[in-house]
Amino acid sequence: MGKILVTGGAGYIGAHTVKRLVSQGREVVVLDNLSTGHRDFARFCDFVQGDVRDPVLLDSVFSSEPIDAVIHFAAASQVGESVRNPLYYYNNNVSGAICLVSAMARHMVDTLIFSSSCAVYGPPFDCLLTEVHPTAPLSPYAATKAMIERILADMARVTPFQYVALRYFNAAGADPDAEVGERHRPETHLIPLVLQTALGQRDHLDIFGDDYPTEDGTAIRDYVHVLDLADAHIAALAYLRGGGASRAINLGNGQGHSVRQVIDAARKITGRDIPVRTAPRREGDSTRLVGDATLARELLGWRPRYADIGEIIATAWAWHSKEAARSAPVL
Ligand SMILES: NC(=O)c1ccc[n+]([C@@H]2O[C@H](COP(=O)([O-])OP(=O)(O)OC[C@H]3O[C@@H](n4cnc5c(N)ncnc54)[C@H](O)[C@@H]3O)[C@@H](O)[C@H]2O)c1
Repeated sequence: MGKILVTGGAGYIGAHTVKRLVSQGREVVVLDNLSTGHRDFARFCDFVQGDVRDPVLLDSVFSSEPIDAVIHFAAASQVGESVRNPLYYYNNNVSGAICLVSAMARHMVDTLIFSSSCAVYGPPFDCLLTEVHPTAPLSPYAATKAMIERILADMARVTPFQYVALRYFNAAGADPDAEVGERHRPETHLIPLVLQTALGQRDHLDIFGDDYPTEDGTAIRDYVHVLDLADAHIAALAYLRGGGASRAINLGNGQGHSVRQVIDAARKITGRDIPVRTAPRREGDSTRLVGDATLARELLGWRPRYADIGEIIATAWAWHSKEAARSAPVL
């Protein structure tokens, strides 16, 4: 078996996947420009600092390493930023994917696992979302994911290129050894924000909207543990190697949790006060986003090992507590 090129392997989900691959004896090369990633997250394997939009660099990586598959995490992924700066998103994400797939074609590397997102789906959202649910991206970020999926599908129709686009719901949790975890700057994801509030790094947590038509009025999301995502990438590689057809596959827990349920679970796990304030709904936020992962079960044999929201939060808490201790001033 050759090496696996992991773009964006110094980021949150990439770093967990790399750690998992290396623990299973796979050789990995990370390519990351560190725009939102962290050099210490890529300490488990070979590391190349650079941009997926750099064809000369890609040619040098593919020529010097025996790469036989690529996992493509590298992307800008903040919805709000993508609304403010759409060109950056189309350039970084879509041009980045085109450069990468072009380099793969030049070097006859045919296998790609792509980080897509549940953000590609459009309304209605009050059902379990399956892969045949209509796609109608609501933000430039989501549009980049849908465009890349289309490009990959078009490539797979006419060349030996094969891919799986994994549509993640909300990635959460951390490595149980707390060697890597979620370190987004700025942080926009709910669970880290809740835990940073528990740690006193934020004086309160904003709940965006408490008048949704849900039991407690707050929005419902599907949280999937980052290690379960990592396992799914490895299973997707095996699926393609076993002759599986190129396609998009959901990765979700199939269970929704409201913002208030997450906060209550975090209060229980941390034993800390988590002050909250209600703020107006954010534009573009839907009431509910919960995925149906039947296809992942059937095609990849994937079953989330961390299905319980308490377990997901507990692993994140261990990581955030360690990060807080690491960055605390020494007195
Ligand atoms: N976190 C989630 O809940 C979630 C949900 C759905 C989809 N995704 C997708 O999963 C992927 C990983 O997300 P994450 O949360 O780990 O994000 P992240 O920001 O932590 O990781 C992205 C990594 O890609 C790198 N990168 C960005 N642009 C690059 C470029 N042009 N060249 C080289 N490296 C580049 C960054 O430096 C970073 O290390 C992204 O594609 C994201 O859109 C994430």
